[in-house]
Amino acid sequence: MNILIKDDDIKKKVAQIGRLINAEYKDRNPVLIGVLKGAFMFLADLLREIDIPVEVDFLSIHSYNGTESSGVVRITHDLSLNIEDRDVILVEDIIDTGRTVKYILDNLHTRKPRSIVVCSLLNKEERRVVEVPLKYVGFTIPGLFVVGYGLDFDNRYRNLKYIGVLDD
Ligand code: IMP
Ligand code: MG
Repeated sequence: MNILIKDDDIKKKVAQIGRLINAEYKDRNPVLIGVLKGAFMFLADLLREIDIPVEVDFLSIHSYNGTESSGVVRITHDLSLNIEDRDVILVEDIIDTGRTVKYILDNLHTRKPRSIVVCSLLNKEERRVVEVPLKYVGFTIPGLFVVGYGLDFDNRYRNLKYIGVLDD
């Protein structure tokens, strides 16, 4: 395993994003929506950096992936909150081709939120196929497959405190 981003650097970055959200969403009571499973650790840490009124919900998706995401996504567990007229922050672990988040955004838009922005810990910018607006990004990384801090390979490695690249 090669460490790409140390846990200390993740901590600092998450705190930074938290401060931005505190400033921009003061008095707006935003809803943070975590996309499971990958985003659970990022969401939990981010939430601890938020000191304004905030609500949390989760969305669970299943993507019909081969090696590359097709954008064919099924919601396997839906929100419990009504997001109509709410300010939504969609919290993702990683944006790769952009297809998954595009699908989720299209779906959430039909529920008439007041606003939606995307907050992703990682961004594989060079791999983008579908244009998606990203408001908060932790780290832009090369187009490598990474694991740790919630991200998996075959459901393993989510527990790592850092982001790493597997040796092949
Ligand atoms: P996209 O639809 O290509 O943007 O893929 C997004 C989803 O694929 C993410 O939410 C992850 O679940 C998964 N994914 C993409 N790249 C990686 C990676 O490097 N490690 C782990 N999961 C990844
Ligand atoms: Mg994900």
